[in-house]
Amino acid sequence: MPPVTARGSAQRGAGERLTAWYARHARDLPWRRRPDPYATWVSEIMLQQTTVAAAGPCFERFLSRFPDLRALAGAAEAEVLAVWSGLGYYHRARRLLRAARLVLDRHGGELPAERAELLALPGIGAYTAGAILSIGHNLPAAAVDGNAARVMARLGGIRGDPLRAAARRAIERRVLELMPPGQASCFNQALMDLGATVCLPRDPDCGRCPLRGACEARRKGLQSRIPPVRRRPAVVKVRLEALAVVRPGRGGRKETLLRRRPPGDILAGMWELPTAPAKERAGEAARMLARLAGARPPVRAGVLRHTITRHLLSIEVYRAEPDRPPVRPGAPRAGGRLEGLEPAPGAEAAGAARRLSGFTGALGATRWVCLREAGGGNSASLALTGATRKAARLVLGVEG
Ligand code: ADE
Repeated sequence: MPPVTARGSAQRGAGERLTAWYARHARDLPWRRRPDPYATWVSEIMLQQTTVAAAGPCFERFLSRFPDLRALAGAAEAEVLAVWSGLGYYHRARRLLRAARLVLDRHGGELPAERAELLALPGIGAYTAGAILSIGHNLPAAAVDGNAARVMARLGGIRGDPLRAAARRAIERRVLELMPPGQASCFNQALMDLGATVCLPRDPDCGRCPLRGACEARRKGLQSRIPPVRRRPAVVKVRLEALAVVRPGRGGRKETLLRRRPPGDILAGMWELPTAPAKERAGEAARMLARLAGARPPVRAGVLRHTITRHLLSIEVYRAEPDRPPVRPGAPRAGGRLEGLEPAPGAEAAGAARRLSGFTGALGATRWVCLREAGGGNSASLALTGATRKAARLVLGVEG
């Protein structure tokens, strides 16, 4: 038997105290009403880069359209992306679909309860496999998100950075030691909730914490130093211009010209307003896009801000009426220099602008779309970029 240390005895029963706390204080989250492996998987993929608040409505929409893995595996990618629309980071949706098809092929449509089999699926790494095993199958596995990591690091006085392997391994070991038998699902989610509501990054509310008597960081007064504060990566500001060419459509509806983002690009395959990096002179990029789009000279409609990872996008949105059909890809381009984008000051921002605008010197595939029907309202039918949804509100007053 291991020797009983002061820490060992203080922490005995901590797992049970935590699950008892969870029984009274668990957050009411949509995926908790359906704690099966499929719903757990979908929610965990959504939560990878999206907040709990933002993921909730998308989760419900996704599950009502694809209620089980078979429904998802049988869907067309375009539809999955459209239902995903608004969450961003669309590679997650593509991998989800690929994995669903593999699960149908390899496992008869049931998400496996074996870690190695889960890890062999696209988009499933160690954390997600642990979440599916513990939350979805209620099997003893660690699933330590940022909130849970903070709780465990403080509880055990683990001083390293939880994003690094050594501290992470120590935390996962402690999770498995404290997890009461048969309680994997609620124990792991209790850690997440305690971190999200009580054991906050700054000013943890230790008075309300069910683990306060066992917490090493509290005993030593180190709550503000565990886990160590990370410096955020520098924000890169990116200036873009987007063009909304709007024409009267059938039945009095307005139609807007959208372009499909090129393959291999960030947000590949999504539909957006033609967008290009801003040049030194305001409106110059929009005028160039208008020439490509066969539109009259554009007028400024407003500015919108949109964040993609550490990139802060400032998008000047212009509006124009059509004049003639858009220039086809590969056709000789009339109307001046279409490439030769002068990089904005700062090489990184210029590179990011090009990647984020997806501008290749031609519009590529285009389509006239009624934005209200295409994803402006709740019934999303086309995968629009997040910035385009915002632009729709700006230009057309369409609800996002
Ligand atoms: N973050 C990641 N997974 C979560 C879950 N199941 N509940 C709450 N927050 C989470």
